[in-house]
Amino acid sequence: MFFGGKGGVGKSTLSCATALKLSQWGRTLLVSVDPAHSLTGILGIEVGQGVKAVGESLFAVELSAEGLVEKYAEKVLRVLEGLIPSSRQGFKEYSKYLKSSPTALETAVLDWLADLCKDYVYLVVDSAPTGQMLRLFQTAHMVGGWLEFLTKLVKERERVERFMGRKDSLLSLLEEKKRKIQTLSWIFREKTLIFAVANEEELSLEEARILEKKLEGFNVYTLINRWSAMEWKGPKVPLANKPYGVENLLQLDIGDILKLLVDEGEKPLS
Ligand SMILES: Nc1ncnc2c1ncn2[C@@H]1O[C@H](COP(=O)(O)OP(=O)(O)OP(=O)(O)O)[C@@H](O)[C@H]1O
Ligand SMILES: [Mg+2]
Repeated sequence: MFFGGKGGVGKSTLSCATALKLSQWGRTLLVSVDPAHSLTGILGIEVGQGVKAVGESLFAVELSAEGLVEKYAEKVLRVLEGLIPSSRQGFKEYSKYLKSSPTALETAVLDWLADLCKDYVYLVVDSAPTGQMLRLFQTAHMVGGWLEFLTKLVKERERVERFMGRKDSLLSLLEEKKRKIQTLSWIFREKTLIFAVANEEELSLEEARILEKKLEGFNVYTLINRWSAMEWKGPKVPLANKPYGVENLLQLDIGDILKLLVDEGEKPLS
Protein backbone atom coordinates (compact mmCIF):
# COMPACT_ATOMS: atom_id res chain seq x y z
CA MET A 1 0.00 0.00 0.00
CA PHE A 2 1.33 3.42 -0.98
CA PHE A 3 0.27 6.80 0.33
CA GLY A 4 1.13 9.74 -1.89
CA GLY A 5 -0.10 13.26 -2.48
CA LYS A 6 0.64 16.90 -1.79
CA GLY A 7 2.67 18.03 1.22
CA GLY A 8 0.86 18.01 4.55
CA VAL A 9 -2.30 16.14 3.46
CA GLY A 10 -1.79 13.30 5.95
CA LYS A 11 0.28 10.65 4.10
CA SER A 12 2.43 9.77 7.11
CA THR A 13 -0.49 9.76 9.56
CA LEU A 14 -2.51 7.40 7.36
CA SER A 15 0.53 5.18 6.69
CA CYS A 16 1.12 4.79 10.43
CA ALA A 17 -2.56 4.19 11.28
CA THR A 18 -2.97 1.64 8.48
CA ALA A 19 0.25 -0.21 9.26
CA LEU A 20 -0.74 -0.45 12.93
CA LYS A 21 -4.08 -1.96 11.98
CA LEU A 22 -2.66 -4.33 9.35
CA SER A 23 -0.06 -5.63 11.77
CA GLN A 24 -2.97 -7.14 13.72
CA TRP A 25 -3.63 -9.28 10.64
CA GLY A 26 -0.11 -10.18 9.52
CA ARG A 27 3.55 -9.29 9.53
CA THR A 28 3.73 -5.68 8.37
CA LEU A 29 6.55 -3.41 7.30
CA LEU A 30 6.07 0.36 7.42
CA VAL A 31 8.56 2.22 5.24
CA SER A 32 9.15 5.92 4.89
CA VAL A 33 10.91 6.95 1.68
CA ASP A 34 10.28 10.64 2.29
CA PRO A 35 13.61 12.33 3.10
CA ALA A 36 11.74 14.37 5.72
CA HIS A 37 10.83 11.37 7.87
CA SER A 38 8.09 11.70 10.43
CA LEU A 39 7.20 8.16 11.49
CA THR A 40 9.00 8.51 14.83
CA GLY A 41 7.03 11.63 15.72
CA ILE A 42 3.65 10.26 14.65
CA LEU A 43 4.00 6.79 16.19
CA GLY A 44 5.75 8.09 19.27
CA ILE A 45 8.21 5.20 18.87
CA GLU A 46 11.80 5.60 17.75
CA VAL A 47 12.16 4.42 14.12
CA GLY A 48 15.64 4.23 12.65
CA GLN A 49 17.44 3.76 9.34
CA GLY A 50 17.44 -0.01 9.73
CA VAL A 51 14.33 -2.19 9.85
CA LYS A 52 13.31 -2.80 13.45
CA ALA A 53 10.35 -4.20 15.36
CA VAL A 54 8.15 -1.42 16.72
CA GLY A 55 5.24 -3.57 17.80
CA GLU A 56 3.91 -7.07 17.65
CA SER A 57 4.22 -8.04 13.96
CA LEU A 58 4.96 -4.41 13.09
CA PHE A 59 8.34 -3.40 11.67
CA ALA A 60 9.34 0.07 10.55
CA VAL A 61 12.17 1.89 8.83
CA GLU A 62 12.96 5.43 7.75
CA LEU A 63 15.12 4.87 4.70
CA SER A 64 18.16 7.04 4.25
CA ALA A 65 18.26 7.88 0.55
CA GLU A 66 21.98 8.53 0.55
CA GLY A 67 22.83 5.38 2.48
CA LEU A 68 20.60 3.27 0.28
CA VAL A 69 22.07 4.58 -2.98
CA GLU A 70 25.59 4.17 -1.61
CA LYS A 71 24.93 0.54 -0.65
CA TYR A 72 23.25 -0.20 -3.96
CA ALA A 73 26.17 1.26 -5.95
CA GLU A 74 28.62 -0.81 -3.88
CA LYS A 75 26.58 -3.93 -4.51
CA VAL A 76 26.55 -3.31 -8.27
CA LEU A 77 30.28 -2.59 -8.21
CA ARG A 78 31.03 -5.84 -6.38
CA VAL A 79 29.02 -7.86 -8.88
CA LEU A 80 30.66 -6.20 -11.88
CA GLU A 81 34.17 -6.61 -10.44
CA GLY A 82 33.42 -10.26 -9.80
CA LEU A 83 32.40 -10.72 -13.41
CA ILE A 84 35.26 -8.87 -15.07
CA PRO A 85 38.03 -8.17 -12.52
CA SER A 86 40.29 -6.54 -15.13
CA SER A 87 37.90 -3.59 -15.57
CA ARG A 88 37.87 -2.56 -11.90
CA GLN A 89 38.89 1.07 -12.48
CA GLY A 90 36.31 1.61 -15.20
CA PHE A 91 33.57 0.19 -12.99
CA LYS A 92 34.58 2.46 -10.12
CA GLU A 93 34.06 5.40 -12.46
CA TYR A 94 30.71 3.95 -13.52
CA SER A 95 29.65 3.52 -9.92
CA LYS A 96 30.21 7.27 -9.37
CA TYR A 97 27.83 8.08 -12.22
CA LEU A 98 25.36 5.49 -11.00
CA LYS A 99 25.15 7.17 -7.61
CA SER A 100 24.24 10.55 -9.05
CA SER A 101 22.01 9.35 -11.88
CA PRO A 102 18.49 10.85 -11.86
CA THR A 103 16.78 7.58 -10.93
CA ALA A 104 19.49 6.26 -8.58
CA LEU A 105 17.27 6.51 -5.52
CA GLU A 106 14.29 4.85 -7.21
CA THR A 107 16.43 2.00 -8.53
CA ALA A 108 17.97 1.48 -5.11
CA VAL A 109 14.55 1.55 -3.41
CA LEU A 110 13.18 -0.98 -5.89
CA ASP A 111 16.12 -3.31 -5.36
CA TRP A 112 15.68 -3.01 -1.62
CA LEU A 113 11.91 -3.61 -1.80
CA ALA A 114 12.34 -6.60 -4.10
CA ASP A 115 14.63 -8.25 -1.55
CA LEU A 116 12.43 -7.43 1.43
CA CYS A 117 8.84 -7.78 0.36
CA LYS A 118 8.76 -11.56 0.52
CA ASP A 119 9.28 -11.41 4.29
CA TYR A 120 6.06 -9.51 4.98
CA VAL A 121 2.36 -9.96 4.40
CA TYR A 122 1.76 -6.20 4.21
CA LEU A 123 3.98 -3.38 3.12
CA VAL A 124 2.94 0.22 3.76
CA VAL A 125 4.94 2.96 2.08
CA ASP A 126 4.81 6.57 3.21
CA SER A 127 5.86 8.22 -0.02
CA ALA A 128 7.76 11.36 -0.71
CA PRO A 129 6.10 14.13 -2.73
CA THR A 130 4.15 13.21 -5.87
CA GLY A 131 7.06 13.44 -8.35
CA GLN A 132 9.21 10.92 -6.52
CA MET A 133 6.37 8.46 -6.14
CA LEU A 134 5.60 8.58 -9.85
CA ARG A 135 9.25 8.02 -10.68
CA LEU A 136 9.31 4.92 -8.48
CA PHE A 137 6.55 3.22 -10.47
CA GLN A 138 7.89 4.40 -13.81
CA THR A 139 11.39 3.21 -12.92
CA ALA A 140 10.11 -0.31 -12.21
CA HIS A 141 8.73 -0.42 -15.73
CA MET A 142 11.90 1.06 -17.23
CA VAL A 143 14.27 -1.30 -15.38
CA GLY A 144 12.15 -4.27 -16.46
CA GLY A 145 12.45 -3.24 -20.11
CA TRP A 146 16.18 -2.57 -19.79
CA LEU A 147 16.85 -5.99 -18.24
CA GLU A 148 14.84 -7.63 -21.00
CA PHE A 149 17.04 -5.93 -23.57
CA LEU A 150 20.29 -6.83 -21.77
CA THR A 151 19.22 -10.45 -21.40
CA LYS A 152 18.72 -10.73 -25.15
CA LEU A 153 22.20 -9.34 -25.76
CA VAL A 154 23.84 -11.58 -23.19
CA LYS A 155 22.10 -14.72 -24.44
CA GLU A 156 24.13 -14.40 -27.60
CA ARG A 157 27.35 -14.12 -25.58
CA GLU A 158 26.36 -17.09 -23.45
CA ARG A 159 26.03 -19.30 -26.53
CA VAL A 160 29.58 -18.46 -27.53
CA GLU A 161 30.92 -19.01 -24.00
CA ARG A 162 29.18 -22.36 -23.79
CA PHE A 163 30.63 -23.36 -27.14
CA MET A 164 34.09 -22.50 -25.76
CA GLY A 165 33.33 -24.70 -22.74
CA ARG A 166 33.10 -21.75 -20.33
CA LYS A 167 30.32 -20.93 -17.92
CA ASP A 168 28.86 -17.45 -18.23
CA SER A 169 27.46 -16.23 -14.92
CA LEU A 170 26.22 -12.96 -16.37
CA LEU A 171 23.13 -14.51 -17.89
CA SER A 172 21.98 -16.18 -14.69
CA LEU A 173 22.61 -12.95 -12.81
CA LEU A 174 20.51 -10.96 -15.27
CA GLU A 175 17.75 -13.54 -15.26
CA GLU A 176 17.60 -13.40 -11.48
CA LYS A 177 17.41 -9.59 -11.55
CA LYS A 178 14.72 -9.75 -14.19
CA ARG A 179 12.69 -12.19 -12.13
CA LYS A 180 12.95 -9.91 -9.12
CA ILE A 181 11.79 -6.81 -10.95
CA GLN A 182 9.03 -8.74 -12.72
CA THR A 183 7.72 -9.97 -9.38
CA LEU A 184 7.81 -6.45 -8.01
CA SER A 185 6.03 -5.07 -11.08
CA TRP A 186 3.39 -7.76 -10.68
CA ILE A 187 2.98 -6.84 -7.02
CA PHE A 188 2.63 -3.17 -8.00
CA ARG A 189 -0.08 -3.96 -10.53
CA GLU A 190 -2.00 -6.76 -8.88
CA LYS A 191 -1.42 -6.49 -5.17
CA THR A 192 -0.95 -2.79 -4.52
CA LEU A 193 -3.36 -0.09 -3.48
CA ILE A 194 -2.15 3.43 -4.10
CA PHE A 195 -3.86 6.23 -2.22
CA ALA A 196 -3.56 9.69 -3.68
CA VAL A 197 -4.33 11.57 -0.48
CA ALA A 198 -6.04 14.97 -0.61
CA ASN A 199 -7.95 17.24 1.73
CA GLU A 200 -11.10 19.25 1.18
CA GLU A 201 -9.01 21.79 -0.64
CA GLU A 202 -8.73 22.34 -4.38
CA LEU A 203 -4.93 22.29 -4.82
CA SER A 204 -4.44 19.02 -3.00
CA LEU A 205 -7.31 17.49 -4.96
CA GLU A 206 -5.79 18.66 -8.20
CA GLU A 207 -2.48 16.98 -7.29
CA ALA A 208 -4.30 13.77 -6.40
CA ARG A 209 -6.06 13.81 -9.76
CA ILE A 210 -2.72 14.20 -11.55
CA LEU A 211 -1.32 11.25 -9.60
CA GLU A 212 -4.36 9.15 -10.45
CA LYS A 213 -4.09 10.00 -14.14
CA LYS A 214 -0.36 9.38 -14.39
CA LEU A 215 -0.68 6.02 -12.66
CA GLU A 216 -3.42 4.75 -14.92
CA GLY A 217 -3.46 0.97 -14.93
CA PHE A 218 -2.61 0.74 -11.23
CA ASN A 219 -5.15 0.57 -8.40
CA VAL A 220 -5.16 4.25 -7.50
CA TYR A 221 -7.78 5.89 -5.30
CA THR A 222 -8.12 9.53 -4.41
CA LEU A 223 -8.79 9.63 -0.69
CA ILE A 224 -10.04 12.64 1.22
CA ASN A 225 -8.33 12.88 4.56
CA ARG A 226 -9.50 15.21 7.34
CA TRP A 227 -12.92 14.85 5.76
CA SER A 228 -15.73 16.77 7.39
CA ALA A 229 -18.48 17.80 5.00
CA MET A 230 -17.50 17.57 1.36
CA GLU A 231 -19.63 15.44 -0.95
CA TRP A 232 -17.34 12.50 -1.80
CA LYS A 233 -18.18 9.00 -2.98
CA GLY A 234 -14.63 7.65 -2.81
CA PRO A 235 -12.66 6.66 0.30
CA LYS A 236 -12.36 9.20 3.10
CA VAL A 237 -10.92 9.46 6.58
CA PRO A 238 -12.68 11.91 8.89
CA LEU A 239 -11.11 14.79 10.72
CA ALA A 240 -9.83 13.52 14.04
CA ASN A 241 -8.50 14.97 17.23
CA LYS A 242 -4.72 14.53 17.72
CA PRO A 243 -4.13 11.61 15.32
CA TYR A 244 -0.72 10.62 16.66
CA GLY A 245 0.53 8.13 19.21
CA VAL A 246 -0.40 4.45 18.94
CA GLU A 247 -3.62 4.70 20.98
CA ASN A 248 -5.05 7.61 18.97
CA LEU A 249 -3.93 6.20 15.63
CA LEU A 250 -5.79 3.00 16.36
CA GLN A 251 -8.91 5.09 16.93
CA LEU A 252 -8.63 6.81 13.53
CA ASP A 253 -11.49 5.74 11.29
CA ILE A 254 -9.66 4.14 8.36
CA GLY A 255 -12.56 1.80 7.56
CA ASP A 256 -12.68 2.93 3.90
CA ILE A 257 -9.02 2.00 3.41
CA LEU A 258 -9.46 -1.43 4.94
CA LYS A 259 -12.65 -2.01 3.00
CA LEU A 260 -10.80 -1.45 -0.29
CA LEU A 261 -8.20 -3.96 0.76
CA VAL A 262 -10.92 -6.49 1.41
CA ASP A 263 -12.69 -5.64 -1.87
CA GLU A 264 -9.42 -6.18 -3.70
CA GLY A 265 -9.47 -9.71 -2.38
CA GLU A 266 -6.84 -9.32 0.29
CA LYS A 267 -9.40 -10.42 2.81
CA PRO A 268 -8.31 -10.90 6.35
CA LEU A 269 -11.22 -9.22 8.18
CA SER A 270 -11.42 -11.55 11.11
N1 LIG B 1 -7.56 12.59 9.80
C1 LIG B 1 -6.92 13.60 10.37
N2 LIG B 1 -7.56 14.43 11.22
C2 LIG B 1 -6.94 15.48 11.78
N3 LIG B 1 -5.67 15.81 11.57
C3 LIG B 1 -4.97 15.05 10.73
C4 LIG B 1 -5.53 13.89 10.08
N4 LIG B 1 -4.59 13.33 9.31
C5 LIG B 1 -3.49 14.08 9.47
N5 LIG B 1 -3.70 15.10 10.32
C6 LIG B 1 -2.72 16.13 10.73
O1 LIG B 1 -2.28 16.81 9.56
C7 LIG B 1 -0.93 17.20 9.68
C8 LIG B 1 -0.13 16.64 8.50
O2 LIG B 1 -0.16 15.22 8.56
P1 LIG B 1 1.05 14.33 8.02
O3 LIG B 1 2.33 14.76 8.61
O4 LIG B 1 0.61 12.92 8.19
O5 LIG B 1 0.99 14.76 6.49
P2 LIG B 1 2.02 14.37 5.31
O6 LIG B 1 1.23 14.35 4.07
O7 LIG B 1 2.78 13.18 5.67
O8 LIG B 1 2.98 15.65 5.33
P3 LIG B 1 4.40 15.79 4.58
O9 LIG B 1 4.08 16.05 3.15
O10 LIG B 1 4.99 16.99 5.26
O11 LIG B 1 5.17 14.53 4.80
C9 LIG B 1 -0.46 16.67 11.02
O12 LIG B 1 -0.54 17.71 11.96
C10 LIG B 1 -1.47 15.56 11.34
O13 LIG B 1 -1.61 15.33 12.72
MG1 LIG C 1 4.89 12.84 5.79
